[in-house]
Amino acid sequence: MRARIIRAERLHGRASPPGDKSLSHRALMFAGLAEGVTTIGNLSTGADVQSTGRCMQQLGAKLRREGKDVIVEGVGARGLRDPEAVLDCGNSGTTMRLLAGIVAGAQLNAVMDGDSSLRKRPMRRVLGPLREMGASAQGEGVAGDERAPLRFTRGTPLRPLSYDMPTASAQVKSCVLLGGLFADGVTQVREPHPSRDHTESMLPIFGVAVNRDPISLRGPAALRAPGRLDVPSDFSSAAFLMAAAALVSDADVTIENVNLNPRRTGFLRALERMGADIQVILGAPRAGEPCGAIRVRGGRKLKAIDIGEADIPDQVDEIPMLAILATQAEGRTRISGASELRVKESDRLAMVAKGLAAMGAKVEELKDGLIIDGAAALTGARIETAHDHRIAMGFAIAGLVASGETIIEEAEWADISYPGFFRLLNDLSGGCVGAEA
Ligand code: S3P
Repeated sequence: MRARIIRAERLHGRASPPGDKSLSHRALMFAGLAEGVTTIGNLSTGADVQSTGRCMQQLGAKLRREGKDVIVEGVGARGLRDPEAVLDCGNSGTTMRLLAGIVAGAQLNAVMDGDSSLRKRPMRRVLGPLREMGASAQGEGVAGDERAPLRFTRGTPLRPLSYDMPTASAQVKSCVLLGGLFADGVTQVREPHPSRDHTESMLPIFGVAVNRDPISLRGPAALRAPGRLDVPSDFSSAAFLMAAAALVSDADVTIENVNLNPRRTGFLRALERMGADIQVILGAPRAGEPCGAIRVRGGRKLKAIDIGEADIPDQVDEIPMLAILATQAEGRTRISGASELRVKESDRLAMVAKGLAAMGAKVEELKDGLIIDGAAALTGARIETAHDHRIAMGFAIAGLVASGETIIEEAEWADISYPGFFRLLNDLSGGCVGAEA
């Protein structure tokens, strides 16, 4: 699908993005592992979470949809079985890295693979600590790293590990903790900067105690189904709509039931520092996470900010959107300490720099960040998405403030996390977004 976007004069309405992707992956994995039946409300409808669902089914969990709920019958402690076919993680790094901990811990014979984007992503960061725990696991060797497909063979039971993480990564942290569920003793992780803590918050809902300081759990631990779990909407999806509302001068957009976990909302804080008009209306927590509505109104002049390494983990997935926003802010925005963005679904620093340059922005690509000088007039351009949902959606928002037409190639990649995104943007903007097959 090719999306065509023109400048929006106004942006008004309400939205409820799909269930949080990070929470949805964990809810499916933990429910699949648990003893008993879990009903998950508002599970993400994105393709990444479907990949996790299919993998859990291959390992023995039973899943069915009932209206808006997904019902999971877990396999219980030690009930996972070897998959008959390759575990296809599609485009999803979270599926591959978290499930690696479970597959290794449960001593399964399994191969995990993914699409061409996932096959380029570094996997030694999870295979290394799992091997330290005694797992027999190998990826395809490349210089200094390993890539999918990953091969796991049954060996000796995992040993607990005390692990100093070289980079702040919730996926690596979660992989080690999930492996630790199967090891006899205390598994502990230390992170250079705090990363999203969904694994630490959700495991206790499934009856497993997790210590926070230091982050640790004691295995072997059996998970128990909690009954019902309602997933809040994804802040990372809401971020695109927040940016759009901050950029279009006649805008008033409310995004409902959004996960407001502070380890996810760095972008909200950045947008406030830039001067955007944002109101947060706290609601009841969901799935153990703070939750509420976010209202953003347009019409404020935005100013440049600095984003350094310590700021990155709380907005790691929002940096492409932030860089695009910065083109419309007065002054020089510096983003540094963000080299992790080079190993996401695409090299996001390179893709953002390339797309913004094509649209006429003043942008310089650094080894670990971007420098953007604003405010610059953007002109419509043809944008390649490189199998990256956040590049597709971020540049669609740029198109709403650009002159002429912006074309997003392979816009269907947005379905990885936000099916219906382009239709919604068209509704909110009163017809500025078109799509063709
Ligand atoms: C995620 C962690 C982050 C994030 C990804 C989801 C998770 O990745 O970018 O979209 O659910 O744990 P890293 O752990 O690589 O930082």
